Amino acid sequence: MILVTGATGNLGKATINSLLNKGIAANDITALVRDESKSHEFKSKGIQVRFGDYQNFESLKSAFKDVDKLLLISSSSEIAHRFEQHKNVINAAKDTGVSHIIYTSFAMKDLRRSIMAGDVQYHADTSDYLKQLAVPYTLMANTMYADMIPMLSGNNILNEGVSIPAGNGKVPFLPIKEMAEALAVVLTTDGHEDKEYVIAADTAFSFAEIAKQISDILGKRVAYDQPPIDVYIARLVQNGFSEDDSAYLTRYSEAIATGEFDTNKSDVKQLLGRSPISLRDFLIRIFGQ
Ligand SMILES: NC(=O)c1ccc[n+]([C@@H]2O[C@H](COP(=O)([O-])OP(=O)(O)OC[C@H]3O[C@@H](n4cnc5c(N)ncnc54)[C@H](OP(=O)(O)O)[C@@H]3O)[C@@H](O)[C@H]2O)c1
Repeated sequence: MILVTGATGNLGKATINSLLNKGIAANDITALVRDESKSHEFKSKGIQVRFGDYQNFESLKSAFKDVDKLLLISSSSEIAHRFEQHKNVINAAKDTGVSHIIYTSFAMKDLRRSIMAGDVQYHADTSDYLKQLAVPYTLMANTMYADMIPMLSGNNILNEGVSIPAGNGKVPFLPIKEMAEALAVVLTTDGHEDKEYVIAADTAFSFAEIAKQISDILGKRVAYDQPPIDVYIARLVQNGFSEDDSAYLTRYSEAIATGEFDTNKSDVKQLLGRSPISLRDFLIRIFGQ
């Protein structure tokens, strides 16, 4: 039995779809859900649903009965709570006899020394915690989602260009769907115990290069503009993000600018047995119509 946490989120849903596409029987997949109203979509496909909240240890223990492989998708709760929540999941998995825990970490050069360490070091803490435990683990260090490019670039690329203060820093952006496929491979094949994989594209691109690629796709010039930090934050707020989330997203752009995502390593081709979709083809899907 495979259990996927964060099943109602983008990566969890995509991973369950990848598992189904690989021919895994729906009743061999369990979705961990904390909100009953979000369970119907899974039930209608024959996927098992169990209820559990990362905050509630006992709920996790009963949800993890008979689970062999557990995918812990990192929490989207308030950052200060995430490591404690992950420890709850890991401890409950250990107590219930789960044989393999797979965790989605984050691919940066150094999570603890990053300029956004306060935002991301819980990934390093969770990874270290897992390594100390006598349960086989796999760490999947995901790069930034390619799906975030429009939002990070101002959400109005066609009219206003690519607008983000990210300097010439490069990111090996990868679509969520490809990350999910890599997770499904690790969940369904042997030999991944106690390994760490970097889930990123082979090639990293700067936002200037992304603007150029979109220009080529559209057949018209798309500028790359680097607004001052305060202007960028104000625009995120205008686009509906809270002040805190806007400041958080701005720290991403600063970390991009200093090259922190350009890790120059990818295990995706090895896991998928093919090259992942190129950024250009991903951008064509978004902007090519
Ligand atoms: N690599 C990247 O670029 C990137 C970008 C964004 C986020 N992330 C990280 O990757 C994770 C997965 O991304 P995503 O896009 O799938 O996020 P998402 O769509 O926000 O999904 C987060 C999932 O976590 C669940 N969750 C949150 N708090 C929980 C709790 N206390 N107990 C049980 N479940 C809880 C949510 O459940 P509900 O549906 O009930 O809320 C949801 O299923 C995020 O949580 C975040 O840590 C990575």
